Amino acid sequence: MAERRVDPEDGATYTWDELSQFYNRKYKKKEIEAYWETCKPAKRTRKAKAEEEPKAKAKSKAKAKVKAKAEAAEPKAKAKVKAKAKAVPKAKETKPSGNFKVVVCGGCGGIGQPMALLMAMDKNVKELCIYDLDISPMPPAGVAQDLIHLERKCSVKGYVGKVNEPPVNFMEECLTGCHLVLIPAGLPRKPGQTRDDLFKINADIAKGIVEACAKYCPEAILAMIVNPVNSIVPAMAELYKKKGLDPLKIIGVSTLDVVRANKFVAEETNKNPNYISVPVIGGHAGATILPVFSQDKAGKLLPAEKVPDMDKHVQDAGTDVVNAKNGKGSATLSMAYAGARFGSAILSGLSGRKRTECAYCASTVTDLPYFAQKVVLGATGIEKVLPLGELNEHETKRLEEVKTQLKGEIDTGLAYAVANSLA
Ligand code: NAD
Ligand code: LMR
Repeated sequence: MAERRVDPEDGATYTWDELSQFYNRKYKKKEIEAYWETCKPAKRTRKAKAEEEPKAKAKSKAKAKVKAKAEAAEPKAKAKVKAKAKAVPKAKETKPSGNFKVVVCGGCGGIGQPMALLMAMDKNVKELCIYDLDISPMPPAGVAQDLIHLERKCSVKGYVGKVNEPPVNFMEECLTGCHLVLIPAGLPRKPGQTRDDLFKINADIAKGIVEACAKYCPEAILAMIVNPVNSIVPAMAELYKKKGLDPLKIIGVSTLDVVRANKFVAEETNKNPNYISVPVIGGHAGATILPVFSQDKAGKLLPAEKVPDMDKHVQDAGTDVVNAKNGKGSATLSMAYAGARFGSAILSGLSGRKRTECAYCASTVTDLPYFAQKVVLGATGIEKVLPLGELNEHETKRLEEVKTQLKGEIDTGLAYAVANSLA
């Protein structure tokens, strides 16, 4: 029978497997091992004792031998591990949840509704606002009334804007005091269209909403889901800059590319996707999507001859959904999942628990002014834009292709910002 020990954190008893599984995502294996050593063995019943005695003796003899050997060989390393082990319970101290206000613009749409559901379940959300147009088949008040019944702390309210009128006329109460605005408002692709084809109409939609944010919540983080992300983010960030606001508050959501890369690697390598984290850099359209498989433990196991196909699979994943939906829209549910994952990471950062995610934003890590890469999300939003790290030969070659296409798409956004201004 597996040995059980008492975790001083909660007083409950655990086997090594249970304890290591519990702390697995928070601490390194060595730290957990050291912590296990500090946990006192659980009291056993007489019957269990009788059954375990012979085995336990042999085990503890062997253990003592290993311990003595380790002590002789590595006294310093052991002291380090011990010190780390002491830090384990401290690091587990819980901080209070945040009480943030979140707005979903386009909150009655294919992405908006399921993403609002997931955000309503986030422990950091105290107030959720659903904003959409009067022409939406589902009224925002309906989505709000539905979500309000969840057993969660957040209140939910719907707000309606009038089509062809500036959002700034309708969004004052909705945006005032808000911390995060998730923006999937805009048209999705149909089969045969590129994301670029959506630029003119979606940039104007985004501009109206960004204008209202600049007025009512200039400190909030604006997470742009609306396509084409590669051009809309530069356009809106430059408009923010023109207005004297921080362009890094405008962030392009490229999380779905990471989610897809992780899933495809998991399928190919037969590993658990929870432990896979493939950075996806560049942008969010076709060849600009560059999954860096070599920087993930499982991803780097892919045979070299499979990498180009896997790379293409991630690039084309959005189009695969568009084609499968046969003119009825693009990815909505997986995007809601990815958008909520990113939204939650932002709120986590704002509440003092830093998180690292990939995102498309103003950047100096390449010679392009906007790029997707890992960023550290902290108390003010993006705190750090991280360097690309080491790339292998395939990735280095692909980076050049990424930059060529992305440059044109960034330029489209920059030209829009020159021709327009926020009121
Ligand atoms: P949808 O048509 O189902 O929903 C869009 C919603 O936006 C609708 O409810 C519509 O009424 C609303 N809307 C339109 N104009 C508005 C305005 N001015 N103000 C407020 N609301 C407005 O579309 P969807 O499937 O939810 O996709 C939305 C956008 O997200 C598309 O542009 C799509 O290409 C993009 N998208 C991005 C990613 C990504 O990875 N970044 C993934 C999937 C989809
Ligand atoms: C996606 O990647 O699924 C989105 O960008 C939607 C699209 O048009 O492909």
